[in-house]
Amino acid sequence: MANNCVIGLQWGDEGKGKIVDALASAHDIVVRYCGGANAGHSVTVGPERFALHLIPSGILFEQVLCVIGTGVALDLEVLTAEIDALQARGVKVDQNLKISDRAHLVLPYHKLEDELAEQSSSGPTKLGTTKRGIGPCYSDRASRRMGIRFGQVYQPDSFREKLGQIVEQKNKIFQALYANQGLDADQIFQSVQKLAQRLRPHVVDSTALLNDALEQGRSILFEGAQGCLLDLDHGTYPYVTSSNCSALGAPAGAGVSFRALDNVIGVLKAYCTRVGEGPFPSELHDSTAEYIRERGHEYGTTTGRPRRCGWFDAVAGRYACRINAVDSLAIMLLDVLSGLDEINIVTAYRYKGRQLESFPADSEVLAQVEPVCETLPGWAEEIDHCRSISELPANAQKYLARIEQLLSRPVKIVSVGPDREATIYI
Ligand code: IMP
Repeated sequence: MANNCVIGLQWGDEGKGKIVDALASAHDIVVRYCGGANAGHSVTVGPERFALHLIPSGILFEQVLCVIGTGVALDLEVLTAEIDALQARGVKVDQNLKISDRAHLVLPYHKLEDELAEQSSSGPTKLGTTKRGIGPCYSDRASRRMGIRFGQVYQPDSFREKLGQIVEQKNKIFQALYANQGLDADQIFQSVQKLAQRLRPHVVDSTALLNDALEQGRSILFEGAQGCLLDLDHGTYPYVTSSNCSALGAPAGAGVSFRALDNVIGVLKAYCTRVGEGPFPSELHDSTAEYIRERGHEYGTTTGRPRRCGWFDAVAGRYACRINAVDSLAIMLLDVLSGLDEINIVTAYRYKGRQLESFPADSEVLAQVEPVCETLPGWAEEIDHCRSISELPANAQKYLARIEQLLSRPVKIVSVGPDREATIYI
C-alpha cells in the first residue's frame, strides 16, 4: 500500500475521519501531524459514533499503529480523557498508540490565554477560535523560551524550573491585560506529572519510528486535521488555525521527507461550511443554509457551534487542489443536498468589476469578492442507500462530474451517509 495523505480542502469538518477510517486498515500506521484538540473527527460504526480529537482515527483497528506526531499541539488532559472514553467502549488503546516526545504541550495557561484573548477581542482581532489553547501553544513553540515539549516533562527538575518562570510571566500578562489573577505553577506541575506518568508507555521518538517504518516498507496514512483554507500560511489568514494543516505540513509535522507522500486524497463536502470568523464567498444566509445545516447536522464536533453553510466553491477547491498536490477527491455529505430544486457552484470570483485569476491572499479582498455561480438542477430522491455511481439520480451524477471537471481531479470516493457502508468507491 502506498503512503496516503488525507487532507481537508475546505475550512475543516469535511468528513476526514470517515475517510481515514475507510483507509486505515490497509495501512500499518496512521499519524496525526498537525493541530490538537481543536479537531473533531467523527466516525460512525454501526450504532456507535466516535468523536476523536487527538487520537488518530485508525485507533478503531487494533492492528493499526497510531502515532501522534511532532507537529501536534498535545493536551494531556484531553488525551487521557479520550483514552478513557475509548477504553470504556471496548476500544484497545495500548501499545497501538504512540506519542511523540517532541510534541508541544498545551497547558492550562494556553487555554486561559485563548479564552481571555477571544473574550476581549472584537472586529478584526476576533478569530472565533475553538478556545483549546492552540494558538498560544504554537506561539510559545515559535518563541522557544516558553515552549515545553512532551519529552521535557520526564526531566522533572528542569521542567519544574522552566514552568515556574513561564507561569510567572504569563500571570503578569493575565493580570496586566485582563485583570485575571492567573494560575498556580505547582498545581499545573502536579497535574502534568500525574498525566505524564500514566502516558509514559506511549512516549516515543516518533521521527525515528516513522523513518524506520518507511525504510522497512511499512505504509503510513497521514491524517490531516482542520483543512487547507485554515492553514497558517496558505489559508484565509488571519482567520486560520496556527499550524500548517494542509498536506504541506505533513512532512514537517510527522518528521519524514516530503518524498514519503505517494498519494494525496482531498476531502471536500458537496457544499461548504465554516466555523468561526473569516471570509466565506459562497456563504448563504437564507433558508437553504438552514436546510443544509439541519440535514448535515452542521454543528461543531468540538464546540457545538452552528456552522456557517454555503455552496460548493470551485475557486477555493482548485486552489486547495494545487497547494496540496491532490491526486483524487472524496466528496462527502452528498446526501445532504437531496431535495433541493437547484444547486449552485461558485466557479469564479469578481472583485471591483473584474474576474480574479487566482484565490486572493488578502482576506479583506476575499470578503468582498462577488461569487459567480453556475446553477445545476437538483434531485429529489434520498440517496443514502446508493452504493454505486450508477444508482445515484442522474442529476447527482452530473453534479459530481461537474466538480471533477472544475477541479481537474477524479472523484474516487462519494459519501452518502454517516455510516461506514454509506460510501461509494469508484
Ligand atoms: P483555533 O484552531 O482553535 O485557534 O481556531 C482558529 C480557527 O480555526 C477558528 O475559526 C476555528 O473555528 C477553526 N478551526 C480550528 N479547528 C477546526 C476544526 O477541526 N474544524 C473546523 N474549524 C476549525
